[in-house]
Amino acid sequence: MNLHRITLRNGADLDGFRRAVRWLMAEELAPQHIVWSLDDAPSLFGGEEVRDAPPVALPRSVARLVELGVCHSDPERYALLYQLVWRVLNGERDLLEIASDPLVHRVDAMARTVRRDLHKMYAFVRFRRMGGENLERFAAWYEPEHFILEASAPFFIDRFRSLDWTILTPIGSMRWDRHALSFGPAARREDAPDEDSFEEGWRGYYESVFNPARVNPAAMRAEMPKKYWRNLPETASIPGLIQTASQRVEIMIEQEATMPTKRTPERALEAMWDQEPKTLEELNAIIAKAGPLVPGATQAVFGEGPKRADIMFVGEQPGDQEDLQGRPFVGPAGKLLDKAMREAGIDRGQAYLTNAVKHFKFEQRGHRRIHAKPTAGEVKHYRPWLMKELELVRPKLVVALGATAVLALTGKSTPISRSRGRARFGTYDGYVTVHPSYLLRLPDEATKREAYEAFLNDLRRIHDLAKADPETGELPLAAE
Ligand code: URA
Repeated sequence: MNLHRITLRNGADLDGFRRAVRWLMAEELAPQHIVWSLDDAPSLFGGEEVRDAPPVALPRSVARLVELGVCHSDPERYALLYQLVWRVLNGERDLLEIASDPLVHRVDAMARTVRRDLHKMYAFVRFRRMGGENLERFAAWYEPEHFILEASAPFFIDRFRSLDWTILTPIGSMRWDRHALSFGPAARREDAPDEDSFEEGWRGYYESVFNPARVNPAAMRAEMPKKYWRNLPETASIPGLIQTASQRVEIMIEQEATMPTKRTPERALEAMWDQEPKTLEELNAIIAKAGPLVPGATQAVFGEGPKRADIMFVGEQPGDQEDLQGRPFVGPAGKLLDKAMREAGIDRGQAYLTNAVKHFKFEQRGHRRIHAKPTAGEVKHYRPWLMKELELVRPKLVVALGATAVLALTGKSTPISRSRGRARFGTYDGYVTVHPSYLLRLPDEATKREAYEAFLNDLRRIHDLAKADPETGELPLAAE
């Protein structure tokens, strides 16, 4: 039998494999006639000279298996993948559906292993600031099990597009300089920096990508062998994340169930998911572009306060004054809230104030614009934006002012009389109290005074709860 030798790069040589497949198919060379060999630096003379040939059209699922399969470290990968391609293109187009076929089974398992290796890499690569003159550059050391460096590039570019980063591995390195990607030689652990102040950022990133629905401590240990734990700054977050996982799952399910229905500004909402706003400014630009769900508002009223406030107050929707001035809580209810905050020792300038609904809705009566309560559907519509806002501000304590805020934060409608006091909003410590406008509406002075005292007590408690323990960073709340 006449054998043909094809030599490919000892890594994930997808281009080389594709080229070889085109030629082999054009020459109608069956798998049993091919010997595949690997070389760290193959030359044209290392094997058969592969000539250019027309592309072959593979079903998408097969092409994807090939892309993943070439990353596997199994030295037989190219031979197996070529057998698969050959059979698919020679009458077995639906081969992948036969899960019991030994070849399909093996290639599938390879692809699964590579996918798992990629996910581990996405989760465990830790960039650290490079020293010396390269303070604006970041580098990470990582040891993948398979040849996944190139395949992982789109993920890291997408997540860290604005950073100049390098990933060093024993099988090669890659650098993204904010504009272009380049590949370099293998590296050693000592080539990567050890630790730096960026660790805090990693903790935050890890917490925000943590998927509580998948939490399984035993599996986490299996996925993240102890040897990694020592080097990962965010392992400190893991016990807390596990503790709060079930509540976070509930919130995720609710979020899923209350995803906005397709209606007018749906494009802007979709844009939010597509664009993944990374700052409040980006989020606000999307909200502004969406415009009001119900026509009439002058402008969107965004949240206001420091980007990393300890307390986030969530109201219902802007009122007449807020709509005109473009700022939350500046009308009568806002003035009352200001007074109570002052008396409770909460500095408004240090808190973040926002609303469940970002546009004023009203009924026109003569010259007056009378506040109209938002419907559950409207609250639901604005909810993803509020959730994003929460994620961006990451307050220590979230305060729901009134039932609409509770609905927005939990997805459930609960009377304030039942929910008042400490609460949990997903991963966040929370507190439920009345809306200040409720106090304004009370009929007589005595009831008003009493209700105001109770409100003030809530704010005092909120003030205390939001004070973190300087030693542990934990809220008194979490320790209770
Ligand atoms: N009521 C609210 O809920 N929010 C405001 O901004 C003003 C009044």
